[in-house]
Amino acid sequence: MTLIARRSSRRWGPLVAAALFASALAGPAVPGSAAVGEDAAQPELQTAAADLSNADGLETLVSDYETRIPTEYTTDTWAPFAEALTTATDVVEDDSASEPEVAEAKTALQSAAADLEPLQSTFATITNDTFWRDTAGNPIYSQGGGVFKFGDTYYWYGVHYRGAESYLANPTQKYDNQVSFVSIPVYSSQDLVNWKFENNVATTSTSLGSLGGTMGNAGWIGRLGVAYNENTGKYVLPVQMWHPTHDHGVLFLQGNSPTGAFTFGNFQRQVVNSPTTGTGDQTVFTDEDGQDYLIFSNRSGRSRAFVSKLRSSDSLYAEPAVEIGRNSEGREGNAMFKLDGKYTMCASDLHGWNTSVNYCIDSTQGRVQGSYSSYYTMPGTQMDYSHVTQTGFFITVEGTVQDTVIYAGDRWADFAWNGIGYNQWVPITKEGSGIRFHSMSQWQFNATTGEFRVAPGNNYILNPDIQADRIIVSNVVGWTRTGSGGVTNVNGGANGSRFALQVNNGSGVRQQMQVPAGTYTLGLYTKGSGRVTVTGADGTVHTLNVPSSSGWTKRELTGIALTAGTATVTVTGGSGNLVADQFSLVRQGGGDPGPGEATRYEAEGSGATCTGTIDTNHAGYSGTGFCNGDNSDSAYAEFTVQAAAAGAATLSLRYANGATAGRPADLIVNGTRVETASLATTGSWTGWTTQTLTVQLRAGANTVRWDPTTANGLPNIDHLDVAQASG
Ligand code: GCU
Ligand code: CA
Repeated sequence: MTLIARRSSRRWGPLVAAALFASALAGPAVPGSAAVGEDAAQPELQTAAADLSNADGLETLVSDYETRIPTEYTTDTWAPFAEALTTATDVVEDDSASEPEVAEAKTALQSAAADLEPLQSTFATITNDTFWRDTAGNPIYSQGGGVFKFGDTYYWYGVHYRGAESYLANPTQKYDNQVSFVSIPVYSSQDLVNWKFENNVATTSTSLGSLGGTMGNAGWIGRLGVAYNENTGKYVLPVQMWHPTHDHGVLFLQGNSPTGAFTFGNFQRQVVNSPTTGTGDQTVFTDEDGQDYLIFSNRSGRSRAFVSKLRSSDSLYAEPAVEIGRNSEGREGNAMFKLDGKYTMCASDLHGWNTSVNYCIDSTQGRVQGSYSSYYTMPGTQMDYSHVTQTGFFITVEGTVQDTVIYAGDRWADFAWNGIGYNQWVPITKEGSGIRFHSMSQWQFNATTGEFRVAPGNNYILNPDIQADRIIVSNVVGWTRTGSGGVTNVNGGANGSRFALQVNNGSGVRQQMQVPAGTYTLGLYTKGSGRVTVTGADGTVHTLNVPSSSGWTKRELTGIALTAGTATVTVTGGSGNLVADQFSLVRQGGGDPGPGEATRYEAEGSGATCTGTIDTNHAGYSGTGFCNGDNSDSAYAEFTVQAAAAGAATLSLRYANGATAGRPADLIVNGTRVETASLATTGSWTGWTTQTLTVQLRAGANTVRWDPTTANGLPNIDHLDVAQASG
């Protein structure tokens, strides 16, 4: 959509490049297989609230935004927000306000809210491979949707399929045909981790308007996204529909609030330039300028990837499509993100709700509808087929420290069980001139700064449950054969799972992974006999001998001390062969800093001294403030840091220096000057940067002090991260 009230040159309202994707309907659960009417009798379903008028929608927004607390935000972002809130309140109270005035106030309010910069931020933990729950503890049923930021809030829309309930109740069997539509729920979140259920914006009783009937009559509903239209002030939701009398097409629903009921807007059978009716898969991508696009493949064959603009006037129609990629094998789950000015569209293999690497194409001219590269495989997706998922959608988080794209993958995979209902999210970052997918079972994300880190409970082994391949193979993905003997995956895994690894007598497989220094525990389930070893980067071998057992037995090796670097897990079959499943290699001491993580000491923290004031007036700091040292050569910032052992440590000091000159300081460790840190200018007081130095620490407590060498004193000091080379 077009911007009509751009209040800030930064990002715009629905700024998050979210995208949605779609799935192969190529599998057995083809449109039409869902039993019409099957869902009608679900009594537990919460009905969508009555449709709100546009003014009611604005009122809902206003009452939500009235709960924001000024002291939690930077003063320079609060002021324009407060002004927009006042204007919006006036419009709500003015009964004679016109529709365009209402839309404009809504747009302005969301735009100002999108720019609000919180003073505090925290890391929250994302745990994959589990069934997610909302803040009330209820299961999150949301597949094939997207996350969109309107104002300062993320909204997650998706489809609740009947099968998700079945998989939650019992994931040890397939529910191929349970893709019948239940509802489109919406959840809200500020941190992208804790999701509050808001409403079902559409249900089986949502009217199909002029088409006649309701969404409950459709044979397939799936793959959706939401766009805010600045012109109408409405939220528009395009979703695939297959209907026994209306064919395939894109159904456009619209609502006046992100969480209110959505009603029929339009049904578009075919997008001009696409060779088929409907879409193969589709998501919605919102560019930084607020323009929304439908990202899709053609339905039959899915060899062509398209970008189509949603009409500016009302977003209820996809304009003639521009083809951006072609591949004869077919691609699906098409979704887009933008990082550093480059558009990237990724998609999966075409094999029906299967797991897949991500195949991506990049814009070569910085234009969303311009030229693209040919397909390449996204690094990091090969070892476990994108954390055992199909491409879902992307969420671009523009953080105060870094921009991070979250990959949201779906497990439709009937093939491996663990099917519909499981969401798997991992970060994607820039790496060199490309990108990298970071497959993790548990990680932590800071939605304000955009930073992420491995969480303490992460399992470093990829494809640990041998479920990524979904068919019987002799080269199990993620695991490299070490000999010529028999290796395969077999049906009948541990704990009712579908697959396990079988390594015959004398043969073996190994997997290599990067680990931070630490003490680890290896766990797995076994039948038969054999041996598992973990070899550290320094060559030390830790061996778990597996004695013979006929039934599944849990095996564990604790106290595995690993140095930072490449660790190798090797599985070798003994006489009688070894069947193994549910591998884990997890760092011990859950609460300790995780892999690659340093211990963070905040300048405002209890173990630190700041000869000056703890301030909060320059955004972008971590914790609750930063140290603004007095402008004097006798002012200093000191940290007391703990070292597990004597030895080298990397100190990363985060600071901002808005003065034009550097503010050099002596680095003094345990009373001895080590060197002078330059602490160069960072251009502004919100321009935080990190300077890294290596020092020797003694075991136990150490003092680390930055002592300015000039009368200008220190820059503003945010925090100190301390990482030891071995632990
Ligand atoms: C400004 C700035 C402070 C900073 C100070 C300085 O006053 O707002 O945060 O500490 O300059 O020069 O040290
Ligand atoms: Ca100062």
